[in-house]
Amino acid sequence: MSSTTALTDLGQALCIVTGASRGLGRTVAKHLARLIKPGSAIVLTARSGQDLRSLQTELTGGDGAGAGLVVECVEADLGHNDAPGRIVSAARRCFKADMDHVILVNNAGSVGDVSHFFRNFTNMAEVNSYLSFNVSSCLCLTAGVLDAFPQRDGLRRTVVNISSICALQPYPSWSLYCTGKAARNMMFKVLAKEEPDIRVLNYGPGPLDTDMLAYAKSHTADENLRMSFNDMCDKGQVLSCDQSCSVLMKLLLGDSYESGAHVDVYDV
Ligand SMILES: NC(=O)c1ccc[n+]([C@@H]2O[C@H](COP(=O)([O-])OP(=O)(O)OC[C@H]3O[C@@H](n4cnc5c(N)ncnc54)[C@H](OP(=O)(O)O)[C@@H]3O)[C@@H](O)[C@H]2O)c1
Repeated sequence: MSSTTALTDLGQALCIVTGASRGLGRTVAKHLARLIKPGSAIVLTARSGQDLRSLQTELTGGDGAGAGLVVECVEADLGHNDAPGRIVSAARRCFKADMDHVILVNNAGSVGDVSHFFRNFTNMAEVNSYLSFNVSSCLCLTAGVLDAFPQRDGLRRTVVNISSICALQPYPSWSLYCTGKAARNMMFKVLAKEEPDIRVLNYGPGPLDTDMLAYAKSHTADENLRMSFNDMCDKGQVLSCDQSCSVLMKLLLGDSYESGAHVDVYDV
């Protein structure tokens, strides 16, 4: 249920963050850790176990900041069929009966081969592999989490899809990425329609200073688009993950967005 006054915390929560090893997902996990109450838990997942464990140490570490916070790492490739189930099992292990909020942040994603144009995607295995990670795993993980933690009095459930302007606009040579992001947006609009008690947010984080943008700058086949990425960076128009995460947390605390809507960082 949405409220008009912003909350000051996200409750005693179970949070699940995909793609938490680096980039935006790592920052999302840090911001969530500051806003959840003692007795909360965070499940971090990505392929790089070592990076997840260093974040786990940071979140639970020394200065008492992580007192009462349980952090579990799941090293998993979301392109593999068993990954959603393994993440849901970890979430079940971390869940405590007195928790009042389940927050799933579907952040993990890849741009795919942006050195190709539409006409080059003749290999169905390549396309399936992309969609399997970027779309199918997101649906199956979200469904698994909702099934594990069904609606009950006193339990809020929030699902965030880290989206992109590419869900709304076509970008030449980014056919896989635009397709995947558009599919995810619609998937979560359907969820919002089906389950009015769940708060569903498609969040467009803006251009971010991460590995993904660095890859896009050097590999994008469309020359105009490649130059526009480089131009954006040269002009300092790229956001830090902290800047974008602050806006995401403001949206979660305010809890007044329309469920299923696409909200861009620049809309807030
Ligand atoms: N950067 C931007 O400008 C921008 C703009 C709009 C939207 N976004 C969106 O923001 C989200 C995060 O992007 P980012 O820029 O932070 O990207 P990034 O720096 O490339 O990080 C991607 C994250 O996803 C994980 N990941 C990649 N492949 C995976 C796989 N097969 N299985 C499991 N995890 C996998 C990576 O961890 P491992 O490699 O350890 O698995 C990493 O933690 C994405 O959904 C992206 O589409 C980014």
